[in-house]
Amino acid sequence: MNQTPLDIVILAAGKGTRMRSDLPKVLHPLAGKPLVSHVISAARAVGGNRICVVYGFGGDAVPKKLNDESLTFVLQAEQLGTGHAVQQTLPELDASGVTLVLYGDVPLTRPDTLKPLIAAAQAGNLGLLTVMLHDPAGYGRIVRENGRVARIVEHKDATEIEREIREVNTGILAAPTAKLHAWLGNLKSNNAQGEYYLTDIIAMAVADGVDVLTSHPADEWEVLGVNSKSQLAELERIHQQNIARALLDDGVTLIDPARIDVRGELLCGRDVVIDVGCVFEGRVEIGDGVTIGPYCVLKNVRIASGTKIDAFSHLVDSEIGEDVRIGPFSRTRPGTKLMRDAHVGNFVEIKNSVVAAGAKVNHLSYVGDAEVGAKTNIGAGTITCNYDGANKHKTVIGENAFIGSNTALVAPVSIGDNATIGAGSVITRDAPAGELTLARGKQLTIPGWKRPVKTKKEN
Ligand code: UD1
Ligand code: MG
Repeated sequence: MNQTPLDIVILAAGKGTRMRSDLPKVLHPLAGKPLVSHVISAARAVGGNRICVVYGFGGDAVPKKLNDESLTFVLQAEQLGTGHAVQQTLPELDASGVTLVLYGDVPLTRPDTLKPLIAAAQAGNLGLLTVMLHDPAGYGRIVRENGRVARIVEHKDATEIEREIREVNTGILAAPTAKLHAWLGNLKSNNAQGEYYLTDIIAMAVADGVDVLTSHPADEWEVLGVNSKSQLAELERIHQQNIARALLDDGVTLIDPARIDVRGELLCGRDVVIDVGCVFEGRVEIGDGVTIGPYCVLKNVRIASGTKIDAFSHLVDSEIGEDVRIGPFSRTRPGTKLMRDAHVGNFVEIKNSVVAAGAKVNHLSYVGDAEVGAKTNIGAGTITCNYDGANKHKTVIGENAFIGSNTALVAPVSIGDNATIGAGSVITRDAPAGELTLARGKQLTIPGWKRPVKTKKEN
């Protein structure tokens, strides 16, 4: 293995005028994560010693958002061109090594596509990633002489004949750092845009007798950049299709692979079925035989095998056991733990609570800061009143209890094992195990009571 050290530079100083946004372009999210974070992931995957992110537009927004001490942030106060941007990083780079240059707005490059470029640089050459485009307008063109790369000409500087060239510069390249240093020092800005072009180093390399070795991405989308919201939307779809295909290859059943959004990590067991319109965020782990109904949102959730989640359920920071039934229209908030065979039904909200094995909360309830014992049944409309306006308090319900419908459990309060609570009760004190407890006005019938009649007005 070649031990030449590798540094990676990510250009992310540009404004991205066409995004029509105050947010720096590289911070716009793709699959829930800033564009530049995808590039950083690819950089990590090829294993650079140092990853330098060049920032500029938007002040500290980029370093603040990324908030990662393992990255080196280099300010390019004025955006004078891609060559000038790389120049700012030179003091940070290991002169005995090679440097790979990536673009913060080109998010989907596969690490494998970068490897030949690095290998070329480690062998003393310049590695350049190019691609054949049907419509090359706007890109730098690769000018070859006798088949060998001679230089790159930017679209704005190109002649009519050069504009016919369909092989374009993706911007991604790798070179020996000491050579890069020398070439960048010689850049001039006498071109159509008055910028210091990184692309001018290609002709300098050729003049130095350094070979320019080109390689190509396996798929065109790997080198597509984001300049507008419509390109961002296109890349989002491509990325989601790739994720969907990988899930299908792993044996997951997607009712429609065009209608799933994974904005994080989704790990599925065998025979998982996911219906349309579901959104997965953060890290979601799904066990064998789990079915997720349409239009569910799951964020940082672990689901054990055999569980069924019905339509329109919203689960966040929750742990779900085996053979649980959830939904339709259920919400579990952070700190929810549902154990084996628990049932949570429509219009039920659970927060920071444990619902033990076989317990049921089937309709229209709020259960917060509570423990619900095994096999307990919580009747429709039951509310744990956990908040007194200042502090949160706990409700503890034992096993096999029965809470009548429309009960308010005013915490802190506990209900014993096998206790029964009469419907419509407002429970403010502990209810003993095994007994019926009620707290409500007694039903009364007033014999012979008459409804009032309308009095007739005089004259
Ligand atoms: C660049 C290439 C072009 C290539 C195209 C591929 C140059 C001169 N041209 O053109 O050959 O076909 O990319 O998309 O390199 N940036 C900075 N600081 C600057 C200028 C740019 O950090 O001063 C960053 C931008 O944020 C962006 C990247 O560099 O991430 C590319 O800059 P951009 O202005 O989009 O270059 P292009 O004109 O597209
Ligand atoms: Mg560009």
